[in-house]
Amino acid sequence: MVERVRERATDCKPQMISMTLNGERVSIQANETDRLTDVLRHGEPSLTGTKLSCGIGRCGACSVLVNGELVNSCLLMAYQVEGAL
Ligand code: FES
Repeated sequence: MVERVRERATDCKPQMISMTLNGERVSIQANETDRLTDVLRHGEPSLTGTKLSCGIGRCGACSVLVNGELVNSCLLMAYQVEGAL
């Protein structure tokens, strides 16, 4: 996982992130600096139910399930959910 994150962190081009989102397989374009919250709210899916409040992992307003685990999407980079279910 760490190797994968390092590889992605050095790639500066926008990339397509593939994941299962609300039961559908989707591909979403994201830049390396996009947090998962940003992509979900302001990207193609426009899922504004995912809120951004503190932005530092304290409030839980941005909580989403990634591979069955509750995570703060403000603390995840979009590329980290590549292949997520
Ligand atoms: S916005 Fe508060 S935990 Fe993510």
